[in-house]
Amino acid sequence: MPGNTSAKEEIKRAADIVQVIGQYVQLKKAGKNFMGLCPFHAEKAPSFMVSPDRQMFHCFGCKKGGDVFAFWMDYHGVTFPEAFKDLAEKHGIPITETFSSSEEREKTRTRETLFKINETAAQYFQEALTQAGGGDPAIQYLKRRALSKEIISEFRLGYAPDAWDGLTHYLTSRQINMERAVQAGLIIPKKGGGYYDRFRGRLMFPIFNLRGQVIGFGGRVLNDALPKYLNTPETPVFHKGEFPYGLHASYKAIRQKGIAVIVEGYMDLLALRKHGLEEVVATLGTALTHDHIRKIKGYAREAIVVFDSDEAGRVAAIRSLPLFMNEGLPARAVALPHGHDPDSFVNKNGLSAFLTFLEKAAPMFDFFLDQKLAQGGSDIEGKVGVLKEILPVLAQLRNRAQRSLYAGRLSERMGIKEDVILSELKAVSKGLSERGLQQALKERIAESKAKQRIGDLQLLNLLVHHPMAVSGLMGTDCMTLLSDAATSQIVKKIFETYRQEGRFSPERLEENLESEEIRIRLREALLADSIYSDQEVKQAVREIEEKVRQQRMTNSIKAAGGDPEALNRVLLKLKTREAQSH
Ligand code: UTP
Ligand code: MN
Repeated sequence: MPGNTSAKEEIKRAADIVQVIGQYVQLKKAGKNFMGLCPFHAEKAPSFMVSPDRQMFHCFGCKKGGDVFAFWMDYHGVTFPEAFKDLAEKHGIPITETFSSSEEREKTRTRETLFKINETAAQYFQEALTQAGGGDPAIQYLKRRALSKEIISEFRLGYAPDAWDGLTHYLTSRQINMERAVQAGLIIPKKGGGYYDRFRGRLMFPIFNLRGQVIGFGGRVLNDALPKYLNTPETPVFHKGEFPYGLHASYKAIRQKGIAVIVEGYMDLLALRKHGLEEVVATLGTALTHDHIRKIKGYAREAIVVFDSDEAGRVAAIRSLPLFMNEGLPARAVALPHGHDPDSFVNKNGLSAFLTFLEKAAPMFDFFLDQKLAQGGSDIEGKVGVLKEILPVLAQLRNRAQRSLYAGRLSERMGIKEDVILSELKAVSKGLSERGLQQALKERIAESKAKQRIGDLQLLNLLVHHPMAVSGLMGTDCMTLLSDAATSQIVKKIFETYRQEGRFSPERLEENLESEEIRIRLREALLADSIYSDQEVKQAVREIEEKVRQQRMTNSIKAAGGDPEALNRVLLKLKTREAQSH
């Protein structure tokens, strides 16, 4: 452990938190800090703050925060040892054994084993494809689908031969633990003992996380058999709907263009990429999830969702509108001509035709309205039904001008008077008031401040922003001024550290605090502006001493109760004190 404590420090120094987080979240400078939309909860106004000075992040909305390791763990859903290794490797810092609790080590070992088995299986499928002869059904099939060699190798497509134990043999010969391979969802135990392959006679698509590791697979049949696609079941490293497919390869292009094109299938994404469209991800047939959108909005300013024109596509479009609104990612949508999906469209008409088609994409709201009206019928019942669905969505719009614009559109399209719509809308959005971005954040900060008494706030602010005040305050009973338990814990830790080490650094305090609640209090104090300037520190320390004195007096007077003798003694004490301090 000791060797790695310094490695940890070294990683922290090398891995600038603004740069690391900036890869995944679009950050804007705000004063001395950076702000962005929090990747950990749904929000439309940024309350996610990254501090280059403190090398920490904190979300004033959901309260997640910490150092660069904490971010990496939460964002990628990995354990501490994995985050440690990732960041060390990325920044070229050599590390020895990782350290952590045995439970964490066990979890890490499981995940690493599963990644390794997935990787081995991906290699097996790739080898099977390259070794297949030209007459092989897999090769024939790929030819028909018109994928290029480059795409096949970049996305590591493979083939699971039509046998019961191809992969099982391959893994056994490589001393892979079969129980783990079962856990990875690649092989299945037989009733009478032994194992067989889950994927047989399928074209294999490895699915990657943002770190480029294989987390699972999709396998497509080469004919019309069902199910068309077989996917890895839930495993400790594969959760359906967590990542959009292809993001690991597309995120740079998405960041650069500001746009993410969202399609449904593996083949859609690969065909578009083959034709040169790089800013594309796929949902793999599931409805868009807020996890998808949260990941995408870290790179894109806008999403264009391409739906198939079938019923499932329509339903998916309707469901996704509130998600985009809640996540604050502007989105447009377009449905392809009947009978087409992006793969067939781009292969038939080429990329420029596809891009021209994308220009037809309507704002998600209009698209939603079109679909709904087409569905709902034009009788009164139908209209009321449509209104009931649309108004809550409309009420979520932050921008008032936009809202009234849509209300106008709604009125026109539905043949309902605009003031009727507006008053209905008002009823629905009651309680949802309009607030500016910074305003909302300020209020949230103020809110958390209001929970602490002024004494707590001042003292903590003074200590973390002016560590030189620590020695002066340590000798006083300033702890008695604190009413908030979390603040008391922090101040106690500060004094303790100072007593032991003769100094303390506010940024390093966090790891020694007991609960998340206390850490949140610390982070918010660190990110708040300093109440006192350097020149005011001495005066502030004096004021605090004075407050302590007054409080002691008040307590003694209270303790004296009605006893005149005791009261006299208190007053006498007070007088001598006053004489001394003048
Ligand atoms: P589609 O049925 O639209 O297939 O499903 P596709 O992508 O056009 O596939 P091709 O062109 O026939 O090869 C869209 C996506 O839904 C998921 C897959 O990820 C697929 O790419 N899906 C579909 C499944 O997971 N299982 C299925 O049985 C079908
Ligand atoms: Mn298709």
